[in-house]
Amino acid sequence: MGRNLAGFVLVKRGSEVSGNLTVWDMAEFFILRGHRRRGIGTEVAREVWRRFQGPWEVRVMQSNLSAHHFWDRAISAFTGEAPRPVFAEKGGKHWKLYSFNSEQAAAKSLGPLESA
Ligand SMILES: CC(C)(COP(=O)(O)OP(=O)(O)OC[C@H]1O[C@@H](n2cnc3c(N)ncnc32)[C@H](O)[C@@H]1OP(=O)(O)O)[C@@H](O)C(=O)NCCC(=O)NCCS
Repeated sequence: MGRNLAGFVLVKRGSEVSGNLTVWDMAEFFILRGHRRRGIGTEVAREVWRRFQGPWEVRVMQSNLSAHHFWDRAISAFTGEAPRPVFAEKGGKHWKLYSFNSEQAAAKSLGPLESA
């Protein structure tokens, strides 16, 4: 993929929506326009979930429909399951909230030989 900056990700501990202090929260996730629709976002998300293993929350503004498509696809490809997001309101903001465990999903997708 070369060495050009294609975007940025910020990860932090603690939910902004559910109140769970232990989850990883995707605080920011941005791919620059010229780099979109090439699979970079999907690949970056997978790498982040593998590096930060454990319970995850990915929250998307309810109005950000293109991001809904993106996360539906990226999360189902990573976990191997259809995502079951919930809708939540916090402080006047409306979110679509995906919850999953990246450790279990990574172990499943790597299989016993590669994860050993
Ligand atoms: C959403 C975003 C991260 C996607 O990054 P990306 O690198 O373009 O994503 P990918 O190329 O990996 O896309 C994988 C799939 O997600 C879906 N998808 C991605 N962008 C989409 C869009 N704008 N509209 C509809 N579906 C989209 C498609 O199914 C796509 O597969 P396809 O290109 O074969 O159709 C990027 O558009 C972005 O940074 N947007 C602005 C910031 C933002 O909304 N961040 C998310 C905040 S929660």
